[in-house]
Amino acid sequence: MPKTINDNQQNMKNWQDQKFGMFIHWGLYSKGDIGEWSMYCNPIDIDEYAERAKDFKGDKFNAEEWVDLAKSAGMKYMVMITKHHDGFSLWDSKACKDNHTSLNCPAKRDFVKEFTDACHKGGLLTGLYYSPLDWRFPGFFFPQMYKRSANELREQAHKQLEELTTNYGRVDLMWYDGGEDYWLGHGIHMHKFGRPADFKTNPQVKDFWDMEKLDKMIRTNQKGIICNDRIGDKTYGDYFAPEKKIGEYNTQKAWETCDTMTNGWGYHPGAPIRSLRSCIQLLAKVVCNGGNLLLNVAPKFDGSFEENEIARLKEVGAWLEKYGESIYGTRGGPIKVDDWGGTANKDNKLYFHVFDWISDEIYVPDVENAKVKCLTGAPVTVTKKNGLLAISVPSKYRQEIDTVIEITYDKKVTDIIEDATDYNEYSKSAIFKNEAVIVADL
Ligand code: GLC
Repeated sequence: MPKTINDNQQNMKNWQDQKFGMFIHWGLYSKGDIGEWSMYCNPIDIDEYAERAKDFKGDKFNAEEWVDLAKSAGMKYMVMITKHHDGFSLWDSKACKDNHTSLNCPAKRDFVKEFTDACHKGGLLTGLYYSPLDWRFPGFFFPQMYKRSANELREQAHKQLEELTTNYGRVDLMWYDGGEDYWLGHGIHMHKFGRPADFKTNPQVKDFWDMEKLDKMIRTNQKGIICNDRIGDKTYGDYFAPEKKIGEYNTQKAWETCDTMTNGWGYHPGAPIRSLRSCIQLLAKVVCNGGNLLLNVAPKFDGSFEENEIARLKEVGAWLEKYGESIYGTRGGPIKVDDWGGTANKDNKLYFHVFDWISDEIYVPDVENAKVKCLTGAPVTVTKKNGLLAISVPSKYRQEIDTVIEITYDKKVTDIIEDATDYNEYSKSAIFKNEAVIVADL
């Protein structure tokens, strides 16, 4: 299906170079007593839920501080929830049903405006999360039975997306959520009866959102914008978006894993925080497998962050300050490694991220003039073995989180090593593989 209007290839490349972004879930659910799915799961009466807006002030929300925090974590782009499934819109939305917006509550502020301005000023790519799905419309749950409501829901989405793509200057990323056709009809799908096995392949209503029109409007308003695929029949997206899991190795199609710093998307007081080791290994593994990482933080109801979240983000940033060259601007692979580590490459450089040393050595092709170093500055032993370079770092210098080893060749790594080379096979059949490399080199 069409990727309309623009060739956004250059933007895609640039975004893939950035590698690491901040996802921010903040809204009426951030009080911490209910999660962002509570309205649906409990369920909570929509009017009762809307009452929460009466307390929504966001008095500690400071978009520039958010941007600074993202930067101090080494993040290069940000994606803010503009409207989650509960329908509360964090901007001056004329199209929002019942005027359920951050302007029509004590806050009286356009948080999307403040956010986009701060991203632009801070030089980060600007991303907006938008859920076309809105639980306030019965037509979402039973689109055929409540046709009028379903039509109003579609209309709201088109108009709100028009607002978001015309009133806030440059938008680099549109992060849809819950917009796939198969989400329509949750009333039947999920609530009491569980999902039918074929609900993804057999949506109740096809092309509910009128995607050709919507996609064209968005890509016309924002030349070269990048969109994820969580809408329509998924073919309109520029990349796919695995959630709460490391995407499988794939260097052919762009993707981005989204995951959380705590145990949920929205704020929960006292929630356990992801360890530094887990943050770094998640990022490194995603990058080595070929993706970007969008890591979620959850500000409190007033817009401020938990101290432990700030501290952890800064630690991540400090790590990236030292080892970022093995992450930013790289592409995954070309060697596929297991849980114990991964590889990434950038032009002539191959980076090995070793989390656990399952053997004392790692193997890479022995091509003339290859230079090896450990980015921590630790001593490295390099021996020629079975036609490969066998690289080792003495155990006392191995890092608990990630020992990054850089191998510099005198030509592009991807000209030397085939994409998706299986490390186990490759190290087993070392001699054969290496000879093949050298022959190719001559
Ligand atoms: C989901 C959930 C949601 C969350 C999102 C982030 O699909 O509906 O609560 O915002 O994923 O990826």
